[in-house]
Amino acid sequence: MIEKGVKIAEPTGTLGVLLVGLGAVSTTFIAGVQAIRRGIGKPIGSLTQMGTIRLGKRTEGRVPKIKDFVPLARLDDLVFGAWDIFEDDAYEAALHAGVLEKELLAVLEPELREIKPMRAVFDRAYVKRLNGTNVKTGRTKYELAEQLIEDIETFRARHRCARLVMIWCGSTEIYMEPRPEVHGSLDAFERGLKENSPSIAPSMIYAYAALRCRVPFANAAPNLTVDIPALIELAQRNHVPIAGKDLKTGQTLLKTIIAPGLKARLLGLSGWYSTNILGNRDGEVLDDPESFRTKEESKRSVLDYILQPELYPDLYGDFVHLVRINYYPPRGDNKEGWDNIDIFGWLGYPMQIKINFLCRDSILAAPLVLDLVLFLDLAQRCGMRGIQEWLSFYFKSPMTAPGLYPEHDLFIQLMKLKNTLRYLRGEELITHLGLEYYD
Ligand SMILES: NC(=O)c1ccc[n+]([C@@H]2O[C@H](COP(=O)([O-])OP(=O)(O)OC[C@H]3O[C@@H](n4cnc5c(N)ncnc54)[C@H](O)[C@@H]3O)[C@@H](O)[C@H]2O)c1
Repeated sequence: MIEKGVKIAEPTGTLGVLLVGLGAVSTTFIAGVQAIRRGIGKPIGSLTQMGTIRLGKRTEGRVPKIKDFVPLARLDDLVFGAWDIFEDDAYEAALHAGVLEKELLAVLEPELREIKPMRAVFDRAYVKRLNGTNVKTGRTKYELAEQLIEDIETFRARHRCARLVMIWCGSTEIYMEPRPEVHGSLDAFERGLKENSPSIAPSMIYAYAALRCRVPFANAAPNLTVDIPALIELAQRNHVPIAGKDLKTGQTLLKTIIAPGLKARLLGLSGWYSTNILGNRDGEVLDDPESFRTKEESKRSVLDYILQPELYPDLYGDFVHLVRINYYPPRGDNKEGWDNIDIFGWLGYPMQIKINFLCRDSILAAPLVLDLVLFLDLAQRCGMRGIQEWLSFYFKSPMTAPGLYPEHDLFIQLMKLKNTLRYLRGEELITHLGLEYYD
């Protein structure tokens, strides 16, 4: 375990950010950072940029910004690279994604044009709705991993990166169960790479390449990817932090805000029906039932873990939870979600809550990508390795140590994150007890 008040290496030099997939989330993140660097936008939604942390007693008045409390890389020190199956540079990809206005993109065009995607490791068997030409070829998956390792090292040298971080922002792959014979150990996984095992999806090949190069890796999508024993073993062995899965934005974010509140007041739940329409490429990919299943699994478990039906059978023993995603092109990235929540109170009297969230998917996701980049880089400089459960705050389906259930309650997740930062800096953890003020 990392010691309290560990010595943290300074974030000097360039931090390379490698994004797998140059789609809506990646381009909104990159263009956003560039706009913020130029002073034409604010990093709204980013804990690392705008968040504060209380230290010591309430009476001490010590509440620094998180970025002043822990040594994080500066936005000016970030440099971006990406892989995609389409050849569009970041400017064209951002225009295609249709999230940010053309006028803003025109201002950023020269910088965005410089980011040209490297050839991807891709196989249609894992994302059925896409077909692109900017892809690598190789006899085995192991050879493809070697090519990615070469890309990473070339990028590192070309941009003189002091450190790197990789984030999977690629499309959602088909649903896969962990297979012990391939995913159970690093040896088995490497054998699988050499034998072209169908249980190894492209996202796993990227994660493997990152970890081989000692590059921290996070998974913004719900695919298994790095959440298998073989890659957790490699992360441990190579001292690399990892995190995932599936960014917590939109409807699930609201669910993990509201459900803890209902449970806190011991209000019962008989049903939660969530449906939404979205029209971006992510929506198109999720229109395929096999990719949708991966997303559905990631979204569904949230309520079970938060409400703990086994502890509260009278309140949560028998609720219906349905999640629907509908691909509806006219909406583009501007998703609309509806939630109908059937609850009950005193003596079982029923009530309803209706939520209509007109959100912007990638606007919610971009600050999370930024925070993950900066916190994973911090974790590596602190000597933290393997699963970073303190980053659960960012995910719909947080990775945990084997045998632990994931913590989904947003407020517990935030407390865990901030207490981890306090611990790293040697500050007292905050319990919110406060009895001492009344002695
Ligand atoms: N709020 C959000 O937008 C949000 C929230 C949670 C999770 N996610 C997940 O993040 C991912 C990205 O979302 P998006 O809206 O940017 O989607 P997108 O379709 O706009 O972008 C994904 C990009 O990945 C590329 N890609 C697919 N497979 C690839 C591979 N093997 N190698 C390289 N590139 C590959 C695609 O060509 C595409 O350009 C999706 O899996 C999505 O489910 C998004």
